[in-house]
Amino acid sequence: MLKVDSLTKNYGSKQVVVDVSFEISQGEVVGLVGENGAGKSTLLNILATLIPLEEGSINYNDLNYGADHRKLREKIGFVPQDIAVWEDFSVKENMVFFEQLSWVKKSRKELRQLCLDMKLDQWKEKTKSLSGGMKRKLNIAISLIHDPDILLLDEPTSGIDLKSRKEIGSYLYDLAKHNGKTIIYTSHDMEEIISLCDRVYCIGKDPFYKELLEKNGKSVQVL
Ligand SMILES: Nc1ncnc2c1ncn2[C@@H]1O[C@H](COP(=O)(O)OP(=O)(O)O)[C@@H](O)[C@H]1O
Ligand SMILES: [Mg+2]
Repeated sequence: MLKVDSLTKNYGSKQVVVDVSFEISQGEVVGLVGENGAGKSTLLNILATLIPLEEGSINYNDLNYGADHRKLREKIGFVPQDIAVWEDFSVKENMVFFEQLSWVKKSRKELRQLCLDMKLDQWKEKTKSLSGGMKRKLNIAISLIHDPDILLLDEPTSGIDLKSRKEIGSYLYDLAKHNGKTIIYTSHDMEEIISLCDRVYCIGKDPFYKELLEKNGKSVQVL
């Protein structure tokens, strides 16, 4: 269980996340929506431990975000909004590089399979020669190397073709439902949110997303 209590984040005098509380159970796929600048990435970066917690508290099972950074990081897989891969490495070299940093060891075959699961079969190609969508597939594969319990995905499917997006979506959904992973992800694609998420958090007061999603039978909570 991931439990967020009274989380607030300011950038100078600007309040971005305001007194947010929520709970997410193991195995849930939760969408995070809201207009540009609403604070989705800020919230995901805090949950990924990349932005320090200032006000409020976050706990994952018995781990506390103030005290247990290292242990938490072992449990978190993160795909940032801005793609973070080594451009001059091949796909294989990227996977091996991040595997070597990881505390979970994977064979070359397993690493390759992770890429194939993401519908990426350009194993030997230089990353800089890949399209944006392919790089994003690589970024998702990298985030899965250490078998994280929690997956935080910031617009993971943007730029990915529709067919791959659907396949990756159902792969991630299975990871939640069969392997008990907890997934929180942002997307501007409401069809994807509707088909993939168990429920949705909406940041911001504009009723647009909430109304649209509720019309389509989604449970939406405004943060
Ligand atoms: N490092 C930063 N310093 C100052 N303001 C920031 C910083 N990062 C984000 N912001 C501001 O915080 C708000 C939320 O940004 P962000 O979390 O990226 O929103 P979203 O992902 O929903 O588009 C925006 O107004 C943005 O300009
Ligand atoms: Mg963002």
